[in-house]
Amino acid sequence: MLIAIVAILIAIYIPIHKTNSALKELGYDKTQIAAIKKAKLQKTLIENKYYSEYLAQSIVDGTLKLDYLPYYTAVSSQRGLAGDDFLLIDRLLEKGYEQDQIENLLKNLRFFEITPLLVFDYQPIEQTYIDDCLAHQAENSQDHFALSGTYYKPYQQTTPVPQIDTSMLVNKRYYLDASYVPQALEAISTWYAAADRQLAKVAADGLVELGDAGRAVGVTFYAASAYRDYETQERIYNSYVSSMGQEAADAASARPGFSEHQTGFAVDLAASNEDDIPEFKDTLAFQWVVNNSYDYGWILRYPQGKEQITGYEYEPWHYRYLGKELAQKVVASKLTFDEYYALYLAPKASKAEQLATATAQITQQPSATASAQ
Ligand code: DAL
Ligand code: ZN
Repeated sequence: MLIAIVAILIAIYIPIHKTNSALKELGYDKTQIAAIKKAKLQKTLIENKYYSEYLAQSIVDGTLKLDYLPYYTAVSSQRGLAGDDFLLIDRLLEKGYEQDQIENLLKNLRFFEITPLLVFDYQPIEQTYIDDCLAHQAENSQDHFALSGTYYKPYQQTTPVPQIDTSMLVNKRYYLDASYVPQALEAISTWYAAADRQLAKVAADGLVELGDAGRAVGVTFYAASAYRDYETQERIYNSYVSSMGQEAADAASARPGFSEHQTGFAVDLAASNEDDIPEFKDTLAFQWVVNNSYDYGWILRYPQGKEQITGYEYEPWHYRYLGKELAQKVVASKLTFDEYYALYLAPKASKAEQLATATAQITQQPSATASAQ
């Protein structure tokens, strides 16, 4: 009888002991081991040899998000994983990144160094991108991001704008059909724009509000350019190509179908009473607009220091209407609208679409608009 009891106790004790020592060997202490067992994570952690101080801490304080468990091993306690990191991980997975690549990115890079990857092309060798970011670590920040390499071939993988509304993204990836004309186009009074300019109604109203707010503090400006149809954009782009060549043209002007001006939600502003100042960026109008426009629903769309992400040179005059709520959120995020859209707004890719993206990445489709010039 006694022998049987001892045998049973040993049979129970040996696996417990084995589990405890395996967890201990990974680096967990007594309190953490108790929390791990309570969460029934011992098998997963031991089998995968998962340990990090941050993972242990998250299990103990109950904040661990099980679906993202491996990523907790990649980051320090100081960095941690916040709400937007989980979204970032989802988006990177959608884009075709493997778990180990994402762990590598999280281990080495800051949030704002990873978000450009949502705009750039898929990078099969993520270490090259990481090394480039690390080489520029000191000068890059949320306000300025530049790398030595290029990670985006514009106009290579293009797709029609997936949803038509004020939050739509039109850039060198998302395009509008040649026949697309915004609904409810409205003429803008010459009090706020050059003659015969039009915008989608919400943006036209938004321009009036912005213009009036500026006037109230003595700052006057107008929309020198607003809605442009496909053919107008084609003429503008082609004239840039003839005068400066395609590479320079692509940095300054969108190819037809790829311009925000075709959305009816974009304007190019000019100062009204500062004729002696040749550049808009040096005017009082610019100073006021750049600091206040988002309160009226407008964002500076192509900022200085983010040229490699937007794909355009700094355009201090070009503003995009997003509505007040979204404009304020985009500005607060310090992301370009391209990144913000890719992270928060883009429709979630289905498994089938993810597969198609991965296949396209391998075959590198030729440009749909290579003959735009
Ligand atoms: N200049 C901006 C990028 C456009 O052509 O739409
Ligand atoms: Zn513009």
